[in-house]
Amino acid sequence: MDYTVNNKEAWEEAFNKHKEGWGDDINSRLANENLPFIEEVLAEELTRYDFKAKAIAQFCCNNGRELMGLMKLGASSGTGFDIAENMIAFANKKAGELELNCNFIATDIRDIKESYNNSFDYIFITIGALAWFRDLKVFFEKVAACLKPQGLLFIHEMHPVTGMFGVYGEENFDESMPEKVVNSYFKEEPWIENNGMGYMCGKDYESKTFYSYSHTLSDILNGIIQNGMNITKLKEFDYDISESFQELSNKGIPLSFLLVSQKK
Ligand SMILES: C[S@@+](CC[C@H](N)C(=O)[O-])C[C@H]1O[C@@H](n2cnc3c(N)ncnc32)[C@H](O)[C@@H]1O
Repeated sequence: MDYTVNNKEAWEEAFNKHKEGWGDDINSRLANENLPFIEEVLAEELTRYDFKAKAIAQFCCNNGRELMGLMKLGASSGTGFDIAENMIAFANKKAGELELNCNFIATDIRDIKESYNNSFDYIFITIGALAWFRDLKVFFEKVAACLKPQGLLFIHEMHPVTGMFGVYGEENFDESMPEKVVNSYFKEEPWIENNGMGYMCGKDYESKTFYSYSHTLSDILNGIIQNGMNITKLKEFDYDISESFQELSNKGIPLSFLLVSQKK
């Protein structure tokens, strides 16, 4: 069975079990904040780009909150893709209620239809998306196909170096020494877990099994470059954006990055 079948089930289960209040603040935050749900570093970067009449998209959009937030920048349309059908149903309903010109599609990113080729001015990938793909060349092939010529890709993600450290609840995690290196930077075998999606569900629970993959920075850069795209910006930061490595923040360890890339 393809690992994404398990991951789809695990993400749908997580959405059904999400902690009380999670996702309930979309209306109020959209009404009261300039750019809700978008981390500061990405928000600051986006002030440099024109969104007027732009078609934007998010790959792995979860419940749509980040894309709906990005619509506040003035894009003409937003399209979100995610494998979890219940999240997509929620996102379409919410966007309809809020009268946003957003459309959410339930699909594995690798199977996005060719009818979306050359469709988007900007594509966004945010925290915790890349780990769900074994082969980033295939993932970025789809990004490149969906971007219009000269279209831009924005990635704000966990740094690949985070994969070297243990996280709370893992067997090899040493609470007294969270900076202890427990995994190879070049780890090829997947993480196979069934302890839940903590950030949505609040506490560990015995969940459906899910599979995720670590990638090196060169995997990411080559995946982009080898699909006909240039990298126009890469910034690394020593603070955590995932809620998993907060003890390591501000200690000189690369924990997150921002990348901008342009299709040729
Ligand atoms: C950690 S979230 C990242 C999105 C967003 N930054 C967030 O925090 O909500 C990961 C998302 O990837 C989706 N996902 C996992 N594998 C996928 C695949 N093969 N195709 C499309 N979406 C996938 C999951 O359903 C989940 O909503």
